[in-house]
Amino acid sequence: MSGFDATVRLLYVAAAACFVVGLHLMNAPPTANKGSRVSATGMVVAVAATIALVAHDTAISATGWTVMLVGAILGSAVGLAFAQKVKMTAIPQLVSLFNAMGGGAAALVALAGFVAASSSANLGGRVAVSTAIDVAIGAVTFSGSVVASGKLQGTIAGRPIIVPGGRLTNSVLALATVVGAVLLAARPHSVAMLVLTLAAALAFGVAMVLRIGGADMPVVISLLNALTGTAVAVAGFVIDNSVLIIAGALVGASGGILTKLMADAMNRSIVAIMSGGFGGGDSPGTDTGGGSAPVRQVSADDAAIQLAYASKVVIVPGYGLAAAQAQHAVRDLAQLLEERGIEVSYAIHPVAGRMPGHMNVLLAEADVPYTQLKPMDEINPEFPRTDVALVIGANDVINPAARRPGTAVSGMPILDVDQAKSVIVIKRSMGHGYAGIENELYTDPKTSMFFADAKAGLVALGAAVKTLVGG
Ligand code: TAP
Repeated sequence: MSGFDATVRLLYVAAAACFVVGLHLMNAPPTANKGSRVSATGMVVAVAATIALVAHDTAISATGWTVMLVGAILGSAVGLAFAQKVKMTAIPQLVSLFNAMGGGAAALVALAGFVAASSSANLGGRVAVSTAIDVAIGAVTFSGSVVASGKLQGTIAGRPIIVPGGRLTNSVLALATVVGAVLLAARPHSVAMLVLTLAAALAFGVAMVLRIGGADMPVVISLLNALTGTAVAVAGFVIDNSVLIIAGALVGASGGILTKLMADAMNRSIVAIMSGGFGGGDSPGTDTGGGSAPVRQVSADDAAIQLAYASKVVIVPGYGLAAAQAQHAVRDLAQLLEERGIEVSYAIHPVAGRMPGHMNVLLAEADVPYTQLKPMDEINPEFPRTDVALVIGANDVINPAARRPGTAVSGMPILDVDQAKSVIVIKRSMGHGYAGIENELYTDPKTSMFFADAKAGLVALGAAVKTLVGG
């Protein structure tokens, strides 16, 4: 091995180490930023080493250099602009688009490998198999992620959409993808098999994600993320690049673990989620009546009295808080209460919001101390000692119906908000959450409904508390 090759390999090892250390640092909020920077450094090292390797082994033409440089600059600029401009609530859509890019890029690498190899009569078995797998997984991930992003953005309806033929069509498309990939691996020069695999995989990705309801979209994104990682790792085999294999394997494995954790937190199997048909879109309700059961409606002033004279308040943030960007308003209210000596903590459900860690990220952005964020198993025993549970735009994750069989949320672990001495819920209406079912907590006699947008409601509550205590 030449000195140059050894240096490149060492750089790859350094890059891989950065990815692993970066992931580890992302385990805890205080070190997460550092983890992100360490991982990004690893990526810069990996890209630089790869370019140096390619330039060393092949004579890159001026056009080749131009294409690489323009591509890198354009890609970085677009990525940076998106990441800086995106709202916190739109992060899931962005993550989904990034997945689409990853999966699409992996499929393109495989296609490039196919084109390059089609001139050589002696295509190795490893490359042939990897190319076939990569085209299939990359294409499913690309089209599925684009649809998932559209659903989250609202450009495609969030409810389950069944393609003509339903499950049969999906099964045929899945089978055609697998058969096409197997035949492509066996006859790697066949353009017809390549086109069949590509077309079937793209169509399968669309049909599979269309029939999945909004409630399950974060799990789907996480699964697509795992698939992206797998496709990238396989692309590493196609072009014989070890750092691509390592990076892809890390993404694939962590995405897989996250998918399983989320499915467990909703008490649903991954297969059931991918079969689709659960939950509706995210359309706001308008009904403030509460069906047949009576609902106790309160004003900001009434709610402020309950809060200002409590000793222990637990804030329960949900998707509505994220949608209203009310994280700063809730922090301001919490600070007011703390100044009065009231103990305040935040109950964080693992799937509150629309993506894993959504609430932690939002509240951290508003400088809420990490020590006040309590995970579900830690906060649940505290509800019976809680004077007021203040629920802000949360619904499914506090629905007591989850404790009974036969409902859309049955078995989902929930925050035991109904065990608090009193409950105040801020939301705009009696509208449903993502699971699309009624919430009996809202008609519980100890619950007060404060109908308002989360941000406006919290600001009004803060003002009422100030007036009450003469601040
Ligand atoms: P949801 O059950 O979706 O309920 C959110 C509530 O927020 C709605 O009922 C809505 O009622 C209210 N809302 C919306 N915009 C609002 C605004 N601007 N101001 C005030 N309220 C607003 O949310 P959740 O309790 O956080 O549960 C999350 C759901 O997502 C669960 O079903 C969970 O399974 C699903 N899910 C999450 C994940 C992850 S990882 N986070 C993964 C998979 C599935 P109004 O329209 O009446 O205001």
